[in-house]
Amino acid sequence: MAYLDGIQSIEELSLENQRVFIRVDFNVPLDKQQQITDDERIAAAIPTIQYAVETGAKVILASHLGRPKGKVAPEYSLEPCGARLAELMKLEVHMPDDCIGDAPRKVIQDLRAGQVCLLENLRFHAEEEANDEGFVKELGDLCDVYVSDAFGAMHRAHASTAGLPRIKAQRGMGFLVKREIASLARVVDSPARPFVAVLGGAKVADKIEVIESLLQKCDAICIGGAMANTLLAAQGHKLQASRVETDWLARGRTLLEQARDRKVDILLPKDVVVATSLEAQSGKTVDVSSIPADHMALDVGPETLELFGARLAKAQTIFWNGPMGLFENPAFASGTRGIAQRVADASAFSVVGGGDSAAAVRQAGPELAEKIDHISTGGGASLELIEGKKLPGIEALRSGGAE
Ligand code: 3PG
Repeated sequence: MAYLDGIQSIEELSLENQRVFIRVDFNVPLDKQQQITDDERIAAAIPTIQYAVETGAKVILASHLGRPKGKVAPEYSLEPCGARLAELMKLEVHMPDDCIGDAPRKVIQDLRAGQVCLLENLRFHAEEEANDEGFVKELGDLCDVYVSDAFGAMHRAHASTAGLPRIKAQRGMGFLVKREIASLARVVDSPARPFVAVLGGAKVADKIEVIESLLQKCDAICIGGAMANTLLAAQGHKLQASRVETDWLARGRTLLEQARDRKVDILLPKDVVVATSLEAQSGKTVDVSSIPADHMALDVGPETLELFGARLAKAQTIFWNGPMGLFENPAFASGTRGIAQRVADASAFSVVGGGDSAAAVRQAGPELAEKIDHISTGGGASLELIEGKKLPGIEALRSGGAE
Protein backbone atom coordinates (compact mmCIF):
# COMPACT_ATOMS: atom_id res chain seq x y z
CA MET A 1 0.00 0.00 0.00
CA ALA A 2 1.58 3.24 -1.21
CA TYR A 3 0.66 5.24 1.89
CA LEU A 4 2.73 2.96 4.10
CA ASP A 5 5.61 2.40 1.68
CA GLY A 6 9.02 2.98 3.23
CA ILE A 7 7.64 3.43 6.74
CA GLN A 8 8.87 1.03 9.40
CA SER A 9 6.47 -0.28 11.95
CA ILE A 10 7.45 -0.10 15.63
CA GLU A 11 7.93 -3.88 15.58
CA GLU A 12 10.78 -3.50 13.08
CA LEU A 13 12.76 -1.14 15.35
CA SER A 14 15.18 -2.15 18.12
CA LEU A 15 13.77 -0.64 21.27
CA GLU A 16 15.43 -2.51 24.12
CA ASN A 17 17.24 -0.15 26.46
CA GLN A 18 16.86 2.64 23.92
CA ARG A 19 15.43 6.06 24.74
CA VAL A 20 12.28 5.87 22.59
CA PHE A 21 10.45 9.13 21.89
CA ILE A 22 6.80 8.37 21.14
CA ARG A 23 4.88 11.37 19.77
CA VAL A 24 1.29 10.85 20.89
CA ASP A 25 -1.78 13.04 20.44
CA PHE A 26 -3.11 13.60 23.96
CA ASN A 27 -4.96 16.71 22.81
CA VAL A 28 -8.11 15.67 24.68
CA PRO A 29 -11.14 17.75 25.66
CA LEU A 30 -11.05 19.07 29.24
CA ASP A 31 -13.78 20.77 31.27
CA LYS A 32 -13.26 23.93 33.34
CA GLN A 33 -11.91 21.89 36.26
CA GLN A 34 -9.25 20.36 33.98
CA GLN A 35 -11.09 17.02 34.02
CA ILE A 36 -10.76 14.95 30.85
CA THR A 37 -14.19 14.54 29.26
CA ASP A 38 -13.16 12.02 26.56
CA ASP A 39 -9.99 9.95 26.93
CA GLU A 40 -10.25 8.05 23.64
CA ARG A 41 -7.00 9.50 22.27
CA ILE A 42 -5.11 8.37 25.36
CA ALA A 43 -6.65 4.90 25.25
CA ALA A 44 -5.90 4.61 21.52
CA ALA A 45 -2.15 5.10 22.09
CA ILE A 46 -1.88 2.43 24.79
CA PRO A 47 -1.11 -0.60 22.56
CA THR A 48 1.99 1.19 21.24
CA ILE A 49 3.10 2.39 24.67
CA GLN A 50 2.49 -1.08 26.12
CA TYR A 51 4.55 -2.69 23.37
CA ALA A 52 7.43 -0.27 24.01
CA VAL A 53 7.26 -0.95 27.75
CA GLU A 54 7.25 -4.73 27.22
CA THR A 55 10.19 -4.62 24.83
CA GLY A 56 12.29 -2.81 27.43
CA ALA A 57 12.33 0.70 25.97
CA LYS A 58 12.85 3.79 28.08
CA VAL A 59 9.64 5.43 26.97
CA ILE A 60 9.48 9.21 26.44
CA LEU A 61 5.97 10.37 25.55
CA ALA A 62 5.40 13.83 24.10
CA SER A 63 2.27 15.69 23.00
CA HIS A 64 0.64 19.05 22.57
CA LEU A 65 -2.57 20.04 24.34
CA GLY A 66 -4.70 22.94 23.11
CA ARG A 67 -3.19 26.05 21.58
CA PRO A 68 -1.19 27.84 24.32
CA LYS A 69 0.67 29.79 21.60
CA GLY A 70 4.20 29.35 22.87
CA LYS A 71 3.51 30.37 26.49
CA VAL A 72 3.39 28.27 29.64
CA ALA A 73 -0.29 28.06 30.61
CA PRO A 74 -1.26 25.80 33.55
CA GLU A 75 -4.68 25.08 32.05
CA TYR A 76 -2.90 23.36 29.15
CA SER A 77 -0.64 21.22 31.31
CA LEU A 78 -0.47 17.55 30.31
CA GLU A 79 -0.64 16.60 33.98
CA PRO A 80 -4.25 15.27 33.79
CA CYS A 81 -3.29 13.16 30.76
CA GLY A 82 -0.30 11.68 32.60
CA ALA A 83 -2.53 10.85 35.54
CA ARG A 84 -5.17 9.23 33.29
CA LEU A 85 -2.54 7.22 31.43
CA ALA A 86 -1.06 5.99 34.73
CA GLU A 87 -4.54 4.93 35.83
CA LEU A 88 -5.37 3.16 32.56
CA MET A 89 -2.02 1.37 32.24
CA LYS A 90 -1.53 0.83 35.95
CA LEU A 91 2.03 2.09 35.91
CA GLU A 92 3.94 5.12 37.10
CA VAL A 93 4.25 8.00 34.63
CA HIS A 94 7.12 10.38 35.44
CA MET A 95 6.35 13.97 34.52
CA PRO A 96 9.10 16.57 34.15
CA ASP A 97 7.78 20.12 34.15
CA ASP A 98 9.11 20.95 30.67
CA CYS A 99 9.78 19.17 27.39
CA ILE A 100 13.36 20.41 26.90
CA GLY A 101 16.19 21.41 29.23
CA ASP A 102 17.43 20.04 32.54
CA ALA A 103 14.12 18.72 33.88
CA PRO A 104 13.43 16.12 31.15
CA ARG A 105 17.14 15.36 30.76
CA LYS A 106 17.36 14.39 34.42
CA VAL A 107 14.14 12.31 34.36
CA ILE A 108 15.22 10.47 31.20
CA GLN A 109 18.70 9.79 32.58
CA ASP A 110 17.09 8.05 35.54
CA LEU A 111 14.57 6.03 33.47
CA ARG A 112 15.08 2.29 33.52
CA ALA A 113 14.02 -0.08 30.74
CA GLY A 114 10.22 -0.35 30.71
CA GLN A 115 9.66 2.94 32.55
CA VAL A 116 7.59 5.78 31.13
CA CYS A 117 7.75 9.57 31.27
CA LEU A 118 5.48 12.17 29.70
CA LEU A 119 7.08 15.49 28.75
CA GLU A 120 5.17 18.71 29.43
CA ASN A 121 3.17 20.35 26.61
CA LEU A 122 5.39 20.84 23.52
CA ARG A 123 3.43 23.96 22.58
CA PHE A 124 4.61 25.81 25.68
CA HIS A 125 7.49 26.62 23.32
CA ALA A 126 6.71 28.63 20.16
CA GLU A 127 9.57 26.72 18.49
CA GLU A 128 7.41 23.58 18.35
CA GLU A 129 4.92 25.01 15.86
CA ALA A 130 7.70 26.89 14.04
CA ASN A 131 9.53 23.57 13.51
CA ASP A 132 12.63 25.36 14.79
CA GLU A 133 15.91 23.59 14.07
CA GLY A 134 17.43 24.27 17.50
CA PHE A 135 14.31 22.95 19.25
CA VAL A 136 14.33 19.84 17.05
CA LYS A 137 17.93 19.24 18.07
CA GLU A 138 17.13 19.66 21.76
CA LEU A 139 14.35 17.06 21.48
CA GLY A 140 16.68 14.89 19.41
CA ASP A 141 19.31 14.93 22.17
CA LEU A 142 16.79 13.35 24.54
CA CYS A 143 16.21 10.19 22.47
CA ASP A 144 17.65 7.46 20.24
CA VAL A 145 14.54 6.23 18.42
CA TYR A 146 11.45 8.10 17.15
CA VAL A 147 7.97 6.61 16.91
CA SER A 148 4.87 8.46 15.82
CA ASP A 149 1.51 7.41 17.18
CA ALA A 150 0.04 10.91 16.95
CA PHE A 151 -2.21 10.44 13.96
CA GLY A 152 -4.35 13.47 14.91
CA ALA A 153 -1.34 15.78 14.60
CA MET A 154 0.26 14.35 11.45
CA HIS A 155 -1.10 17.12 9.25
CA ARG A 156 1.03 19.59 11.24
CA ALA A 157 4.60 20.32 10.08
CA HIS A 158 5.81 20.93 13.62
CA ALA A 159 9.12 20.14 15.34
CA SER A 160 7.89 16.98 17.08
CA THR A 161 5.84 15.68 14.14
CA ALA A 162 7.96 16.56 11.10
CA GLY A 163 11.35 17.94 12.22
CA LEU A 164 12.42 15.36 14.77
CA PRO A 165 11.73 12.19 12.73
CA ARG A 166 13.88 13.55 9.92
CA ILE A 167 16.98 13.63 12.14
CA LYS A 168 16.47 10.15 13.58
CA ALA A 169 17.60 7.23 11.43
CA GLN A 170 15.65 4.89 13.70
CA ARG A 171 12.08 6.01 13.16
CA GLY A 172 8.73 4.45 12.54
CA MET A 173 5.03 4.34 13.26
CA GLY A 174 3.04 2.96 16.15
CA PHE A 175 0.02 0.68 15.91
CA LEU A 176 -2.55 3.49 15.95
CA VAL A 177 -0.93 5.39 13.08
CA LYS A 178 -0.64 2.18 11.07
CA ARG A 179 -4.32 1.34 11.56
CA GLU A 180 -5.44 4.91 10.81
CA ILE A 181 -3.46 5.14 7.58
CA ALA A 182 -4.44 1.66 6.40
CA SER A 183 -8.17 2.27 7.02
CA LEU A 184 -8.28 5.72 5.45
CA ALA A 185 -6.16 4.59 2.50
CA ARG A 186 -8.64 1.78 1.84
CA VAL A 187 -11.37 4.42 1.53
CA VAL A 188 -9.33 6.77 -0.66
CA ASP A 189 -7.52 4.27 -2.87
CA SER A 190 -9.63 1.23 -3.43
CA PRO A 191 -13.17 1.69 -2.13
CA ALA A 192 -15.53 -1.18 -2.85
CA ARG A 193 -18.62 0.20 -4.61
CA PRO A 194 -21.10 1.65 -4.03
CA PHE A 195 -19.05 4.16 -2.01
CA VAL A 196 -21.29 6.50 -0.02
CA ALA A 197 -20.01 9.47 2.00
CA VAL A 198 -21.97 11.33 4.66
CA LEU A 199 -20.79 14.85 5.37
CA GLY A 200 -22.07 17.30 7.95
CA GLY A 201 -20.90 20.17 10.07
CA ALA A 202 -21.23 23.89 10.07
CA LYS A 203 -19.70 25.17 6.85
CA VAL A 204 -19.34 24.26 3.19
CA ALA A 205 -16.25 26.48 3.33
CA ASP A 206 -14.53 24.00 5.71
CA LYS A 207 -15.35 20.92 3.66
CA ILE A 208 -15.16 22.15 0.07
CA GLU A 209 -11.88 20.34 -0.70
CA VAL A 210 -13.19 17.12 0.80
CA ILE A 211 -16.37 17.33 -1.25
CA GLU A 212 -14.41 18.01 -4.42
CA SER A 213 -12.13 15.08 -3.74
CA LEU A 214 -15.03 12.76 -2.85
CA LEU A 215 -16.84 13.74 -6.06
CA GLN A 216 -14.10 11.88 -7.92
CA LYS A 217 -14.48 8.72 -5.84
CA CYS A 218 -18.00 8.37 -4.47
CA ASP A 219 -21.25 7.12 -5.92
CA ALA A 220 -23.31 9.28 -3.56
CA ILE A 221 -22.72 11.99 -0.97
CA CYS A 222 -25.35 12.60 1.72
CA ILE A 223 -25.03 16.10 3.18
CA GLY A 224 -26.60 17.30 6.43
CA GLY A 225 -25.83 19.86 9.13
CA ALA A 226 -25.67 23.59 8.58
CA MET A 227 -23.55 23.07 5.45
CA ALA A 228 -26.61 21.51 3.79
CA ASN A 229 -28.48 24.80 4.36
CA THR A 230 -26.13 26.59 2.00
CA LEU A 231 -26.66 23.98 -0.73
CA LEU A 232 -30.43 23.98 -0.20
CA ALA A 233 -30.39 27.79 -0.49
CA ALA A 234 -28.31 27.43 -3.67
CA GLN A 235 -31.17 25.28 -5.04
CA GLY A 236 -33.63 28.07 -4.26
CA HIS A 237 -35.12 26.93 -0.94
CA LYS A 238 -36.02 29.59 1.62
CA LEU A 239 -33.99 28.79 4.72
CA GLN A 240 -35.49 31.64 6.78
CA ALA A 241 -33.40 32.22 9.94
CA SER A 242 -31.12 29.22 9.29
CA ARG A 243 -27.38 29.66 9.07
CA VAL A 244 -26.49 30.06 5.38
CA GLU A 245 -23.08 31.02 3.95
CA THR A 246 -24.33 33.57 1.44
CA ASP A 247 -20.90 34.06 -0.14
CA TRP A 248 -20.79 30.34 -0.94
CA LEU A 249 -24.07 30.12 -2.86
CA ALA A 250 -22.48 30.41 -6.31
CA ARG A 251 -19.80 27.85 -5.44
CA GLY A 252 -22.52 25.60 -4.03
CA ARG A 253 -24.38 25.75 -7.35
CA THR A 254 -21.20 24.87 -9.25
CA LEU A 255 -20.63 21.95 -6.93
CA LEU A 256 -24.12 20.58 -7.56
CA GLU A 257 -23.52 20.92 -11.32
CA GLN A 258 -20.16 19.15 -11.05
CA ALA A 259 -21.83 16.30 -9.20
CA ARG A 260 -24.50 16.02 -11.90
CA ASP A 261 -21.86 15.93 -14.63
CA ARG A 262 -19.93 13.24 -12.79
CA LYS A 263 -23.14 11.30 -12.11
CA VAL A 264 -22.57 11.44 -8.37
CA ASP A 265 -25.81 11.73 -6.41
CA ILE A 266 -25.77 14.53 -3.86
CA LEU A 267 -28.53 13.85 -1.35
CA LEU A 268 -29.72 16.86 0.66
CA PRO A 269 -32.25 16.96 3.51
CA LYS A 270 -35.93 16.58 2.57
CA ASP A 271 -37.16 17.53 6.03
CA VAL A 272 -35.50 19.37 8.91
CA VAL A 273 -36.10 19.95 12.61
CA VAL A 274 -36.57 23.68 13.19
CA ALA A 275 -36.76 26.04 16.17
CA THR A 276 -36.41 29.75 16.82
CA SER A 277 -33.31 29.53 18.98
CA LEU A 278 -30.23 27.33 19.43
CA GLU A 279 -31.18 26.79 23.07
CA ALA A 280 -34.73 25.57 22.28
CA GLN A 281 -35.75 22.49 24.25
CA SER A 282 -37.66 20.98 21.36
CA GLY A 283 -38.15 21.51 17.67
CA LYS A 284 -40.69 20.65 14.99
CA THR A 285 -40.17 18.72 11.81
CA VAL A 286 -41.04 20.47 8.55
CA ASP A 287 -40.39 19.99 4.85
CA VAL A 288 -37.40 21.99 3.59
CA SER A 289 -39.75 23.88 1.28
CA SER A 290 -41.86 25.14 4.19
CA ILE A 291 -39.59 26.38 6.95
CA PRO A 292 -41.65 28.94 8.92
CA ALA A 293 -40.45 32.56 9.19
CA ASP A 294 -37.96 33.21 12.06
CA HIS A 295 -37.19 29.46 12.30
CA MET A 296 -33.85 27.82 11.67
CA ALA A 297 -32.99 24.29 10.61
CA LEU A 298 -31.08 22.60 13.46
CA ASP A 299 -31.25 18.90 12.57
CA VAL A 300 -32.29 16.60 9.76
CA GLY A 301 -35.74 15.01 9.99
CA PRO A 302 -36.88 11.34 9.88
CA GLU A 303 -37.63 11.32 6.13
CA THR A 304 -34.05 12.48 5.47
CA LEU A 305 -32.72 9.75 7.76
CA GLU A 306 -34.68 7.18 5.73
CA LEU A 307 -33.31 8.62 2.48
CA PHE A 308 -29.69 8.61 3.67
CA GLY A 309 -30.19 5.28 5.46
CA ALA A 310 -31.40 3.54 2.28
CA ARG A 311 -28.15 4.53 0.50
CA LEU A 312 -26.02 3.47 3.45
CA ALA A 313 -27.74 0.09 3.61
CA LYS A 314 -26.68 -0.64 0.00
CA ALA A 315 -23.15 0.74 0.31
CA GLN A 316 -19.96 -1.35 0.29
CA THR A 317 -17.80 1.51 1.60
CA ILE A 318 -18.89 4.36 3.90
CA PHE A 319 -17.03 7.45 5.06
CA TRP A 320 -18.75 9.76 7.53
CA ASN A 321 -17.54 13.10 8.82
CA GLY A 322 -19.50 15.79 10.62
CA PRO A 323 -22.73 15.96 12.65
CA MET A 324 -26.15 16.27 11.01
CA GLY A 325 -27.24 19.09 13.31
CA LEU A 326 -26.68 20.86 16.58
CA PHE A 327 -26.12 17.55 18.36
CA GLU A 328 -24.71 19.15 21.55
CA ASN A 329 -28.35 20.13 22.26
CA PRO A 330 -30.26 16.85 22.87
CA ALA A 331 -33.31 18.34 21.14
CA PHE A 332 -31.35 18.30 17.87
CA ALA A 333 -29.24 15.16 18.27
CA SER A 334 -31.57 12.59 16.65
CA GLY A 335 -30.23 13.07 13.13
CA THR A 336 -26.60 12.55 14.15
CA ARG A 337 -27.52 9.61 16.38
CA GLY A 338 -29.65 8.14 13.60
CA ILE A 339 -26.76 8.33 11.13
CA ALA A 340 -24.41 6.73 13.67
CA GLN A 341 -26.91 3.85 14.01
CA ARG A 342 -27.31 3.43 10.26
CA VAL A 343 -23.55 3.50 9.63
CA ALA A 344 -23.12 0.87 12.36
CA ASP A 345 -25.93 -1.31 10.95
CA ALA A 346 -24.64 -1.18 7.37
CA SER A 347 -22.63 -4.14 6.13
CA ALA A 348 -20.15 -1.83 4.35
CA PHE A 349 -16.54 -1.19 5.36
CA SER A 350 -17.18 1.93 7.44
CA VAL A 351 -14.86 4.69 8.55
CA VAL A 352 -15.83 7.64 10.72
CA GLY A 353 -13.58 10.72 10.62
CA GLY A 354 -12.45 12.15 13.97
CA GLY A 355 -13.88 15.10 15.83
CA ASP A 356 -17.62 15.56 16.41
CA SER A 357 -18.83 12.51 14.47
CA ALA A 358 -16.42 10.23 16.36
CA ALA A 359 -17.59 11.78 19.63
CA ALA A 360 -21.23 11.18 18.61
CA VAL A 361 -20.50 7.52 17.89
CA ARG A 362 -18.81 7.08 21.26
CA GLN A 363 -21.71 8.84 23.00
CA ALA A 364 -24.03 6.29 21.42
CA GLY A 365 -22.21 3.58 23.36
CA PRO A 366 -19.62 0.84 22.88
CA GLU A 367 -21.99 -1.63 21.20
CA LEU A 368 -22.62 0.74 18.33
CA ALA A 369 -18.99 1.87 18.09
CA GLU A 370 -17.81 -1.75 17.84
CA LYS A 371 -19.88 -2.26 14.68
CA ILE A 372 -17.95 0.48 12.86
CA ASP A 373 -14.75 -0.70 11.19
CA HIS A 374 -12.65 2.34 12.02
CA ILE A 375 -13.25 5.48 14.07
CA SER A 376 -10.43 7.90 13.42
CA THR A 377 -8.78 9.82 16.26
CA GLY A 378 -7.82 12.59 13.84
CA GLY A 379 -10.27 15.30 12.77
CA GLY A 380 -8.20 17.53 10.46
CA ALA A 381 -5.68 14.78 9.71
CA SER A 382 -8.28 12.29 8.46
CA LEU A 383 -9.91 14.93 6.24
CA GLU A 384 -6.57 15.91 4.72
CA LEU A 385 -5.84 12.27 3.90
CA ILE A 386 -9.26 11.92 2.29
CA GLU A 387 -8.56 15.11 0.32
CA GLY A 388 -5.50 13.33 -1.09
CA LYS A 389 -2.96 15.62 0.59
CA LYS A 390 0.46 14.48 1.75
CA LEU A 391 0.70 14.73 5.53
CA PRO A 392 4.04 16.12 6.80
CA GLY A 393 4.09 13.73 9.77
CA ILE A 394 3.68 10.71 7.47
CA GLU A 395 6.20 11.88 4.87
CA ALA A 396 8.83 12.48 7.58
CA LEU A 397 8.65 8.82 8.60
CA ARG A 398 9.58 7.43 5.19
CA SER A 399 13.05 6.04 4.62
CA GLY A 400 15.73 8.18 2.97
CA GLY A 401 16.95 11.65 3.82
CA ALA A 402 17.71 11.18 7.53
CA GLU A 403 20.94 11.28 9.58
C1 3PG B 1 -6.56 17.88 16.70
O1 3PG B 1 -7.19 17.95 17.76
O2 3PG B 1 -7.13 17.91 15.59
C2 3PG B 1 -5.08 17.67 16.75
O3 3PG B 1 -4.65 17.36 18.04
C3 3PG B 1 -4.34 18.86 16.19
O4 3PG B 1 -4.57 20.00 16.98
P1 3PG B 1 -4.41 21.44 16.34
O5 3PG B 1 -5.54 21.64 15.37
O6 3PG B 1 -4.44 22.41 17.49
O7 3PG B 1 -3.08 21.47 15.61
